[in-house]
Amino acid sequence: MSERPKSETQYKEELKQKIARLKKERNAVIIVHNYQRDEIQEIADILGDSLTLARAAVNTKAKIIVFCGVHFMAESAAILNPGKKVLLPVKEAGCPLADMITVQKLRRKKKEFPDAAVVCYVNSSAEIKAESDVSCTSSNAIEVVRSIENRRIIFVPDKNLGRYVQSQVPEKEIMLWEGFCPTHLRLTEEDVVKAKNKHPEAEFIAHPECRPEVLANAHHICSTGGMFQYAKASKAKEFIVGTESGMLYRLRKENPGKKFYMPTAHLMCANMKLTTLGWVAYSLENLVYEVKVSEEIAGKARKTLERMLSVTQQVQKNTAKSNS
Ligand code: 13P
Repeated sequence: MSERPKSETQYKEELKQKIARLKKERNAVIIVHNYQRDEIQEIADILGDSLTLARAAVNTKAKIIVFCGVHFMAESAAILNPGKKVLLPVKEAGCPLADMITVQKLRRKKKEFPDAAVVCYVNSSAEIKAESDVSCTSSNAIEVVRSIENRRIIFVPDKNLGRYVQSQVPEKEIMLWEGFCPTHLRLTEEDVVKAKNKHPEAEFIAHPECRPEVLANAHHICSTGGMFQYAKASKAKEFIVGTESGMLYRLRKENPGKKFYMPTAHLMCANMKLTTLGWVAYSLENLVYEVKVSEEIAGKARKTLERMLSVTQQVQKNTAKSNS
């Protein structure tokens, strides 16, 4: 009698076991962004937003970092860890927002506004980071901008995050770049209004990469990591989630008594979903695809990222002091 074909669950379980074995053999750590597929989130050693993952990459003792996210995230981990091997399981997993700026164009802008500091969102290449004064993520962009002495700031490449930061830091003059996240841009105000009408008790939580008219409807605006904290702490029992749909997995798991809805079915980042268990196993087995940055660029980009990390550390110290 012929063997019964494996079910998808069996197939995934076998891959998970293989990944666990290879991870031990290789002394590797698996770092996963909140937008990844559910089964990738399940194998994470560290799961979080861009800032959490950048900090985790600095603190890990593992020799190999398997970065389940998109290219700029793995690249930042490689920049911050010159002695370690950073692997991106799918080399095509890019970020269209990061590709919306070039070094030449940024240099031109800097020449035009020599008194301005350049703040780059982490969703940018190593070359752009090397040309910038300081990086930021969606969870620390406001503090980073406040920490800068210059009044004028060139904020690249996300115009929506830049505009949101401007609304919170009016004492600065922020020059925006024409970049955007295509996934977040697909969320319209109409989608939000419809979802609110359908779920009148729900709070709308939104990522600052959303359009301004979408953000205007939000109860709370924050990074993906901030959404987990907010959903847990809020008295509300229902939430409309204004960011990539991978968030639902953990929001529902961590808040069994609460309900989470997507305002549209279109909030899926195709690049984030490229990583599968099969690719992670392949990556660990064959040690591919290593993300490498020349030391000339990495050295400059490292300073930009480290400045961001030290601003966050300072803010946390100050908050702890004022709470004690
Ligand atoms: P977070 O830092 O909020 O996780 O955002 C990452 C990102 O790329 C959003 O599109």
